[in-house]
Amino acid sequence: MAQYGYFDDTQREFVITRPDTPLPWLNMLGQDEFFGLCTQTAGGYSFWKDARLRRLTRYRYNNNPMDNDGRFLYVKQGKSVWNPGWKPVRAPLDAFECRHGLGYTRIKGRKGGVEVEQLIFVPPDENVELWRVTVRNASKSTQRLSLFSFVEFCFFEALNDMTNYQRTYSIGEVEVEGSAIYHKTEYRERRNHYTLFGCTRPVAGFDTSRDAFVGVHRGLHDPQAVLAGKCTNSHAYGWNPVGALQVDLALKPGKSETFAFVLAYVEQGDLPKFDAPFVMNKARGREILAKYSDIAVVDSAFSALKGRWQDLLSTYQATHVPNPHLQRTVNIWNQVQCMATFNLSRSTSGYETGIGRGMGYRDSNQDILGFVHMLPARARQRILDIASTQLSDGTCFHQYQPLTKKGNADVGGGFNDDPLWLILSTCAYIRETGDTGILGEPCGYADKPGSKDTLLHHIETSIAFTLRNRGPHGLPLIGHADWNDCLNLNCFSKEPNESFQVTGDIAGSKAESVMIAGLFLYAARELSSLYRFLGAPGDAARLDGHYADMLRTVEEKAWDGAWYTRAFDAESRPVGSRRCEEGKIFIESQGWCVMGGAGAGNGRAKKALMSVEKHLYTPQLGCALQWPPYSTYHLELGEVTSYPPGYKENAGVFTHNNTWIHIGWTLVGDGKRALEYYLSICPSAKKDHDVYRSEPYVYSQMTASQFSPTPGEGKNSWLTGTAAWSFVVGSQYILGIRPEFDGLRIDPCIPGTWKGFTVQRRFRGVMFTVTVTNPRRKSKGMKTLLVDGRRVEGNVVPLPTDGRTAVRVEAVLGA
Ligand code: GLC
Ligand code: GLC
Repeated sequence: MAQYGYFDDTQREFVITRPDTPLPWLNMLGQDEFFGLCTQTAGGYSFWKDARLRRLTRYRYNNNPMDNDGRFLYVKQGKSVWNPGWKPVRAPLDAFECRHGLGYTRIKGRKGGVEVEQLIFVPPDENVELWRVTVRNASKSTQRLSLFSFVEFCFFEALNDMTNYQRTYSIGEVEVEGSAIYHKTEYRERRNHYTLFGCTRPVAGFDTSRDAFVGVHRGLHDPQAVLAGKCTNSHAYGWNPVGALQVDLALKPGKSETFAFVLAYVEQGDLPKFDAPFVMNKARGREILAKYSDIAVVDSAFSALKGRWQDLLSTYQATHVPNPHLQRTVNIWNQVQCMATFNLSRSTSGYETGIGRGMGYRDSNQDILGFVHMLPARARQRILDIASTQLSDGTCFHQYQPLTKKGNADVGGGFNDDPLWLILSTCAYIRETGDTGILGEPCGYADKPGSKDTLLHHIETSIAFTLRNRGPHGLPLIGHADWNDCLNLNCFSKEPNESFQVTGDIAGSKAESVMIAGLFLYAARELSSLYRFLGAPGDAARLDGHYADMLRTVEEKAWDGAWYTRAFDAESRPVGSRRCEEGKIFIESQGWCVMGGAGAGNGRAKKALMSVEKHLYTPQLGCALQWPPYSTYHLELGEVTSYPPGYKENAGVFTHNNTWIHIGWTLVGDGKRALEYYLSICPSAKKDHDVYRSEPYVYSQMTASQFSPTPGEGKNSWLTGTAAWSFVVGSQYILGIRPEFDGLRIDPCIPGTWKGFTVQRRFRGVMFTVTVTNPRRKSKGMKTLLVDGRRVEGNVVPLPTDGRTAVRVEAVLGA
């Protein structure tokens, strides 16, 4: 990674030292409702809440050059034209640096004695994106230059914006006032909102027509107004409105000037819409621009952002961890990524266009596992929103739109793992907060919106759904697919124009999923301990009974000799069995059966994990999803066989499911392997970024596996369930600080060579400082546990009952 940058952990930044990274390296801006994607060359776009319905600026995905739209600054200095972020002009720079920080990106470029710094961020609780810009004269002579800022406005509804030109070329409208451009397309009709792009300093000119600023036969790398050194003060009427503002500067040697550009999403609320015909009421926009015209206000907004992240991360901080990758990942970037997956699910990234996919039912439930410790109140609301997209028979809408919170009818449901994930997120929330009140919250079913059924009712409905929908072996029916979206055992698609995701579901299918069985075991055990905590032993016993039944079924019907079978297809033939020619062993059923407690008493857990090691694992690469990969398309298995071997679900290293194996190793007490496997997928630990290519600070969904021609190449970064689960692995299973219903469990599983480490964990309002020492060089097990100097039996630290807000825990390993 040294090729392209390095971690600056004290600043909590990743520093990129050259702009031409192997792929665009993205950062996520925004933590509440206004979001932006921002790469090291200032590429990306911004939106409010929903990247499909409220997109503010345009972005052309899969462009060539890649990542060529964004929040650009152009410098025109004599004949020379350049961007501090290198793109889109790509003029060679004398110096370049990009610092991706927590919710901000700071890009610095220098050329011809001039340095331009652009700090881009979204302050907490504001619907604006600020670019704090400093232009410095680093030379010995006076520098005269023009700086042009540029964004291209999106007509809010992103799909229409990029497909329906017969209409969109004729709807664009703007107004200009002083240094501000108001993008108000469709405002005269049904919209009560607009986009503001302004400069806090007087401007020398502007353009709002793309044709005028760029030119029809030119590109963003040679825009005609910049080349001419002068904006044309164009007013867009239809076609493509843009925001270009020209600032002329004359800087003496050593001098600098600082000002800001403001990109805001403005809702008019109940203000009158117009001051006069065609003249919008700009009161709110003016107020916003006036506010940030004082650069001290911009600076305090940035401090507020830093403070916000400081506070968020302070809930879990580890120190003295012998492995620096684990410490950095757990403390910083993994939590940052969890914020992104919580907010965006799988909708908006360098790979997800913000149009195709909304919030995922299973995805969002899992995302909560890595997020709930930061902002439990938001997790609570999310759980209730998700539950409301479940139907009263237990099935779930697989996706919903964040703006409307309504289930997405195009995708529908039928993914039979979906209902169970709600139990995991709810229990994680209650473990974190102790707030059992959430269980009594009324949240209607999607088909009975007004109903007063509670969250607990949803949870019982989910359990009942799995129990009711079982196949010939007594295992859960898979439905359209389980966690593996591509294992489509009921699909039988021969038609290339069909989507695997929504096609199929033959009536009366018997196809069964062992992965769902393992997930059920896990969920049933969670729920049983919740009932016990609630003082409902009868209900706990009922769940224990279901657990025992399912466990028996799994052990009797799904053990294949050296691992757990993955599934049974529509004809009841095994999938993921030694009897198969390809796809003999799958990772998910090993992870979930072991996590659900299968194989614990009979040695099978360990054996299944060793089979993973033998057939799927490669050091520094991770575990492939299955082995051998499918070489031909199988009608009866669906999309999993559609990918070329070694990619995605066809035996790629799908990092998300690797984390379940990591937990598995901790459950069998192998701390050495747990860490080694953890590091095998950890982006911070990747050595060669010409091979890995993706961002070193966040997980990618997939790494091309040993079965592909490009092993080790990462793809689909940012929005993956790996974020949440890896945080669970690192923080709760390796370092072992795990919230329980009635206290904080201290149960590390570490390499025997470690001497110890310390964790600060804020839990239910109390700061626990946990020092773990390992004098006997063990991997797991508690010898003594001292809580504020007093001995406690077992490994759960109870919550103080005397109002203490700081608790000191000393844990000595080695039972
Ligand atoms: C994608 C989906 C997720 C699914 C996984 C495996 O990450 O978002 O829901 O479980 O792929 O197919
Ligand atoms: C494809 C992908 C899978 C994803 C699904 C849903 O099947 O392979 O990873 O979960 O699409 O979009």
